[in-house]
Amino acid sequence: MSEITFRLNGAEITVPVAGGSALDLIRDGLGLTGAKLVCGTGGCGACAVLVDGNPTETCILPAAALAGREVVTVEGLAGPAGLHPVQRALVAHDAVQCGFCTPGMVVGAAAFVDRWRRERPGERPTTAEVAGAMDGHLCRCGAYPGILSAIAAAAAGEFDGEDPVPGRPDGVAKATGAARFTVDVRLDGMLHGRILRSTEAHAEIVALETGAASAIPGVRAVVEILRPDRTVSYVGEPMAAVAAVDEATAERALRAIAVRYRVLPSAVGASAAMADDAPDLVGRRLMLTSSNEAGAFAVALPRSGNRRGPWSPLSFRRVAARRRIAAARRASDPLLVEGTWFTAAQSHASPEPHTAVADWRPDGLTVYLSTQSVTATAAKLARRFGLDPASVRVVAEHVGGAFGSKQNLTEPVIEAVELSRAAGAPVRISLSSSEELSVTGYRPASEIRLSVLGGADGSLRAVEAVAHMDGGDSVGQTVVNLMRLSYPGRPMALVDYDVLNNAPPAKPFQAPGAPMALFALETAIDELAARLGEDAIALRLGWEPRPLRRAVYEWAGTHPLWRERPSGAGGRGVGVAFGTWYYGYDPATRVRVLSDPSGIVVETGAQEVGTGAAAVLAEAVAEVFGMSPDGVTVRIGDSALGHGPTTSASRTTPSLAPTAREAASRLRDRLVESAVHELGLTGPVLAEGGILHGGELIPWPEILPRLAPLVVEATRPRDTRLPVSPIPVEGVQVGWGLSDSACLVEVTVDPAGVVRATRAAVALAAGRIHTPLQAMGQVHGALARGIGQALLEERVTDTGSGRVVTDAYDTYRILRAGDMPEVEVRFVEEGFDHAPGGGAGIPELAIAAVPAAVANAVAHATGRRLRRLPMTPERVRAAMAL
Ligand code: FES
Ligand code: FES
Repeated sequence: MSEITFRLNGAEITVPVAGGSALDLIRDGLGLTGAKLVCGTGGCGACAVLVDGNPTETCILPAAALAGREVVTVEGLAGPAGLHPVQRALVAHDAVQCGFCTPGMVVGAAAFVDRWRRERPGERPTTAEVAGAMDGHLCRCGAYPGILSAIAAAAAGEFDGEDPVPGRPDGVAKATGAARFTVDVRLDGMLHGRILRSTEAHAEIVALETGAASAIPGVRAVVEILRPDRTVSYVGEPMAAVAAVDEATAERALRAIAVRYRVLPSAVGASAAMADDAPDLVGRRLMLTSSNEAGAFAVALPRSGNRRGPWSPLSFRRVAARRRIAAARRASDPLLVEGTWFTAAQSHASPEPHTAVADWRPDGLTVYLSTQSVTATAAKLARRFGLDPASVRVVAEHVGGAFGSKQNLTEPVIEAVELSRAAGAPVRISLSSSEELSVTGYRPASEIRLSVLGGADGSLRAVEAVAHMDGGDSVGQTVVNLMRLSYPGRPMALVDYDVLNNAPPAKPFQAPGAPMALFALETAIDELAARLGEDAIALRLGWEPRPLRRAVYEWAGTHPLWRERPSGAGGRGVGVAFGTWYYGYDPATRVRVLSDPSGIVVETGAQEVGTGAAAVLAEAVAEVFGMSPDGVTVRIGDSALGHGPTTSASRTTPSLAPTAREAASRLRDRLVESAVHELGLTGPVLAEGGILHGGELIPWPEILPRLAPLVVEATRPRDTRLPVSPIPVEGVQVGWGLSDSACLVEVTVDPAGVVRATRAAVALAAGRIHTPLQAMGQVHGALARGIGQALLEERVTDTGSGRVVTDAYDTYRILRAGDMPEVEVRFVEEGFDHAPGGGAGIPELAIAAVPAAVANAVAHATGRRLRRLPMTPERVRAAMAL
């Protein structure tokens, strides 16, 4: 081991170095955890620090290369005058969603802004110039519009002012690297865990010999993680886990475990699993992994061969639908649009890998977890391990993206807990980027056969659809059934099947099922409109009595992007598509609001995955007290804080906002009573920002220090209309009413088949929007992931070996800043008066129609219809050549 000396954040330090990367040294050796590890190959910018003033990817830089250098990490960027202008700008523009990419983004942007201001003082860079400078920084949350505008504003000198800047409650912590994610958690005596995974797609584990691994010095525990039937069903399935004093020893121990497989017949991919000679992959297994939020509820369905289904809960007059379509087919009716649509699997690619730090002690279990649900996970862990629920605590201070993949007891939480129990010490397991892109879930691939029949009078006469979903070793998809939500009241025969096979299991992904269903349905309707010679929006408007749906049609139909679209097939096109989502909430949500001399605090067992839950809570309480949200302290991310909603199915805001408002209102009223009893005020009256007494306003910051602390807890108030679902399923109650969206996208297509989304306009009709800036960010993110699904994201599993080929960020591509279109967002804040918060959630609604809109735009630009996503240059070129 040698020593190196360098300057770190202004101070000279000398540290021992024994190989490893500069990132390892900075994070683990020096405890500066702002810089993050995502790709590990220099391609995402998350690990950037300034080395001699240049942004440098430290994951690929040897630690020894820091010798003699001047190093500035995100923690050292702020100076005596406060935050760096870039940090202020990112917070003020709400360009920090989950915040996991933010430290690297801040460092890269600060270098650009400082250089820009030296070389071109007073000038404002264009969006393209900023995007070019930030090309090496990926943001899976898709906060790019905010990021680009913030950086341009900082470069133009608009953020040279003073702190604090207004922003989401955790904005500054994220922009300064202070936010602690699960990957940053370090506990005394903590061991490091790794998981041994199957190398076979389907096998019985005849023997798993762990003796040699256990004997390695430094190994503290080895546990088996096998199903009761001792089989594995996909490459990468966990079989055992090891805890050791460091990662290298744990890796060595994994290699020392001897596995004897009895290889069983396998089929990887839906086609292979549906072949006549496919092996029976279901066998006598009673439970299959669910790929949706409904868990086991969706699993209990008939199966034939490796297909699970038919699943047709939302079909309507299915016999009529089939009869009409069969007759139209016999008559070669030109208004029958039919075909088969395909979409590739889409990886979640969460920037923070699935990570757990488990601490099993005689008096209870604490798990630090990158999760979408501290509350539900704590309850499930208690059940799984037979523990008193009161003794189990799940903590997630900040979560670096999830998008659906971090709910339920997904790996590595079980493995970390088992190891901690066996070792008697805390154990941390953080998946590698290869594991993250292989085994933590994905949006399933789909094949949808669809027939849409129109009438000469412009009516929608029938829809028939059959989906086969390829979610590997999982079932539970509802896809074409969602078509009914878009156009209710028409005869529809809708059938979903899952095709079980030996690829890793899928997981829920933002608006599960909807982007695929709408890609087929909305492009077919576009085609029907063309055959009828009708405007695609006017046609739909003629079908629609629902006010919210009509509102988004009317908005889209009069939008300049639509009105002024080119005539088509000239390399530039505009597409439109519409989405619908249900309104859900968690009726068991509880929120506490506290007052003490220092101010107002709101707390609940929810978590912040980047969607703005903390901002929603602060805003709800601040509105009741007539104060700025900055004056409200938010405590979340801990199951000990009471029942909070899982962040999925767009339930978070409709669960939290009305509950927080209810608790805050009751607390405010009690504070007025206290003012009478404790301060002797007579006839105090509530007023904006405080209490009016004797004609004078006494602001809350003056009153609270004079009153005894109070606590009020509320449960979510009820809707004034009965819910649609009789009981909550996995914590989500489906309420009355549907939300609607319109998505307009403009694309250009060059002769090489490269599609670029240049402009997008989105309208969401979901009732009240509680925090517009954060809601805007959700729309940006939905566009980024939806355009990604439409144009470039394609998870590939080798059907021969069962290995995921796209297990690195250079093979699995996501949208970059320069790929993002200009975005306009409109909220139609009507229609949910029966909901106590006045609105539904929006993340699912925001993404549902995006791929379909892009596909319609490509058809408009090229005159060719592509029915397979993603629309890669090769596929577009091939279509144009027809
Ligand atoms: S560039 Fe270093 S983690 Fe991605
Ligand atoms: S804010 Fe960029 S990855 Fe989440």
